[in-house]
Order: sequence, then structure tokens, then C-alpha cells
Amino acid sequence: MEKNDLLSKFGLFDAKVPRYTSYPPANHFQNGVGVRRQADWLKAVPEGSEVSIYIHIPFCKRLCWFCACRTQGTKTLRPVDAYVDILRQEIAQVRAALPQSVRMSRLHLGGGTPTILSPETMEALLGTVFDAIPKSADCEFSVEIDPTEASEELLNSLVKFGLNRASIGVQDFEPKVQKAIGRQQSLEQTVGVVEFLHNAGVAGLNLDLLYGLPHQTAESFRKTLKHVADMRPDRLAIYGYAHVPWMSKRQVMIKAEDLPDNQSRFELAELAKAHLVAEGYKAIGIDHFALPSDSLFMAAERGQLRRNFQGYTDDQCESLIGLGASAISKFSQGFVQNAVATSAYQERIQSGGLAGHKGYEMACQDELVAAIVEDLMCRFSFREEALNNRFPQSIDVIHRTAISLMNRFPGVFRIASGGLEMVAEARPLVRVIASFVDQFTSQHVAHSSAI
Ligand SMILES: C[S@@+](CC[C@H](N)C(=O)[O-])C[C@H]1O[C@@H](n2cnc3c(N)ncnc32)[C@H](O)[C@@H]1O
Ligand code: SF4
Repeated sequence: MEKNDLLSKFGLFDAKVPRYTSYPPANHFQNGVGVRRQADWLKAVPEGSEVSIYIHIPFCKRLCWFCACRTQGTKTLRPVDAYVDILRQEIAQVRAALPQSVRMSRLHLGGGTPTILSPETMEALLGTVFDAIPKSADCEFSVEIDPTEASEELLNSLVKFGLNRASIGVQDFEPKVQKAIGRQQSLEQTVGVVEFLHNAGVAGLNLDLLYGLPHQTAESFRKTLKHVADMRPDRLAIYGYAHVPWMSKRQVMIKAEDLPDNQSRFELAELAKAHLVAEGYKAIGIDHFALPSDSLFMAAERGQLRRNFQGYTDDQCESLIGLGASAISKFSQGFVQNAVATSAYQERIQSGGLAGHKGYEMACQDELVAAIVEDLMCRFSFREEALNNRFPQSIDVIHRTAISLMNRFPGVFRIASGGLEMVAEARPLVRVIASFVDQFTSQHVAHSSAI
């Protein structure tokens, strides 16, 4: 069967399925699995273990029309400074709940635009978090950087605190596309920030691109890919643009009729893959690319790729602690999301408690499905033997799942050592396959396109 026929037969071009950055997806979190669980689960983090910390900064000076991230526009730094004061209070409250000997092996600042902070405010925030939870020897400290909103002083502050990975938003360099998505950003500005970071010794660099944007063509996207490959980041994330104006109101500024259709989206994704592979990158999972020198590449080679809310990661920590409005924490027992509205988040912290307002407690069956989904998303495989070893009480269910995958998706899997493996040409279907396994899919309300 032709690749396109196989993909369309199993619904790639029509399916609305989750991105599976977590299992279960965040729209399954329930009210009430909040503060009590958050405190219990923080206390239960094992003594001496390493944790990942995520800090959410929900502010931007400009609000790009395409953006689906949780953020709000601000013209002044007053609300940002007030928010950081509360964040520092939250850090103290979380610290008090955690066992003493915990170390931090990851710190990621995302948003929104973390680089909106003044250098003084950024240094105060970083001082608080690094004092509260000491770094492990090989701690990765990464920050999302908008090149149009990143002063040299601010970048120097990040470097002073050990920044070793920068994640820079690009999306597309074509002026017509930039105009249609409300994000003007010149090549020179981006190259300037990349060179500054390189000269400052920041070794890890990822760039984000989007395919499926209005007016994007194969020709224009090829130019963007060339500019990006010339900057030689060790990692790239190339996401499909999710047009969800019912969730992200600013996207109403983007006209649906200007968007490429699903077939064209797929071709843009394939174009990016061919271009980057020819440039020496390896495709990682469904939307990342990495050079052999990158830790993500090495994790993929070792079969240790993981999935978290930022997408693919080599982070092996069991506990991820999210700080700030809407931030999600993950523990071995389940998930907790902080209050989403900045005001509600601030009220909770000011009242002296933690900020969790909803979450999810993992049942044994969820752990099995989460393991299958992660295996599919990270390795395109269904490792029946490994699953049997980890979930001996579910051997029967695991085997029935393998049989139903083979029956439901003929031509998609082949028998491999220890289980099943998706054939290379069927891999774009992996989210569709994961949603088949996901017992909750029928209840999902609205998700992004599968490609
Ligand atoms: C928090 S945002 C950007 C960080 C920083 N403020 C910037 O502008 O560079 C992180 C990434 O999410 C991705 N993203 C945002 N909205 C998206 C959407 N609607 N569909 C897919 N990816 C999206 C973009 O690639 C973006 O670079
Ligand atoms: S892409 Fe970045 S700068 Fe633009 S709205 Fe989203 S978070 Fe803000």
C-alpha cells in the first residue's frame, strides 16, 4: 500500500487526537484532586532523589496570534514583578513540604515569555529557587527565549546562574507568514541571540518551528529550514500548528481559509524531515530533531527517550514540580495542576497554602496505559515482554491489546524482538494508535489535528 493510502486509511488526515505529552491528557484532570494531594505527594518524594522544576511565566509584551500557550499581555513590568514575588513565596512553601535532601537536576523556565523579567527580578527568582533546592552536579537549566524580548543584560543574568540550554521560538521567517500570525521577528534578531548565547558558552540550543501556518508553502518553508540549519542548533522542535480558536481566542485573527489543508501540512512535515536528515539531524519521535552531540539524541539511541509537557525529553526524574499559575506537577502517584488564572493562583499562595486546584490520581490500569502510550510515542513500539515484566498482573490485557493493534491496524506493525514495532512509513499515525489504546478517547472534547 502507498504510504499516503495507509495513512489516510487509518485516519491521519481527519483524526482529532491528543498530543500525549502526558497520560492521561490534562483535560482529564478533575477538580478537587488538589492541595491535599499536592502536599502529600511532595512529602512522599524519596529522600535524596532528584527532581525537575518547571516555572511558568504567563506574561508577554506582544501576544502572537498563533499562540496557544497560557499567557497574558502586559505593557509594564508591575504585574510581572508582583507575580515573581508570589512565585518566590510558592517556592518557600513547596520547599517546606519536600524532604530535605532532594536535589534539582532540571530547571526549566517557560511561558509566556520568561525573558520579559528585568535582570534584577530574574536574579532574585533564580537565587530563591537555587537556594531552596540545591542543583545536582549535572543540572540542566533551560529557558524559553523570545529573541525580540531578550536584552543582553537579561541573558547575562541567565548565564551567570548557569544557563546551559536555550529554547528559542522562531516559527517561520517568511514575512508574509509572520504577518499572518502576528509575529514579526527578523532573521538578524534571531541570529544575534543565537550568536550571543554561543559566545557566552551556552552549549544547548533548540529552535522551535511550526508547520501548517497560513500562507506557508513548500518553497517558503524550505527557506526557513535553510536559515535554521545554518544556525546549527543541536535540537529542533517542529510542531504542527494547532488551530484551536475556541480555546485560544487570539487565534480568531488567523483566517481558517489561509491555512494549508491536511495533505499540505503533512507534506510540509515530510519536507522538514527530509531537509534536516540531509543536514545531519536524526528524527526523534514525531516532532523533534537532534544532532548526534545532543543528549536527546543519545537518550533516543539508548531507548531512554521520555515524554513530558514540553514534548520529548531525556529527563529521567520521577517527579516534576510545576510552579506558577497553571503549572502542572507530575508525581509517581499522579498529576496536580495549579490554579490557572493568575489572580486565583496568587490568592492561594498568599493564603499560605499550595496552589493546586485540580489533578489526577493514577490507578494501576492508568499506569499500564501510560507506559504503552509512552512506548508508542517515544519508540514507535509495543514492547510486550517489557510490559509483562512491569505489569505481571495484566499479562492478559497486554496480550489482547497487542492482538487488537495487529487486527485493527493491518500493515502498521511488524513483529519485532520482544513485541511489535511500527513500520517506518506508518509512524505519523502514532497519535492515532495511542488514542486507540487510550480508553478515554471517546470522552475527549476537542483536540488538535493528528498531523
Ligand atoms: C511558550 S511558546 C514560546 C516561547 C517564547 N515566548 C517565544 O515566543 O519564543 C513555546 C512554543 O510553543 C509552540 N506553540 C505555541 N502555540 C502553538 C500552537 N498553536 N500550535 C503548536 N505549537 C505552538 C511554539 O512553537 C512556541 O515556540
Ligand atoms: S509565542 Fe511567545 S511571545 Fe508569542 S504569545 Fe506565545 S508565549 Fe508570548
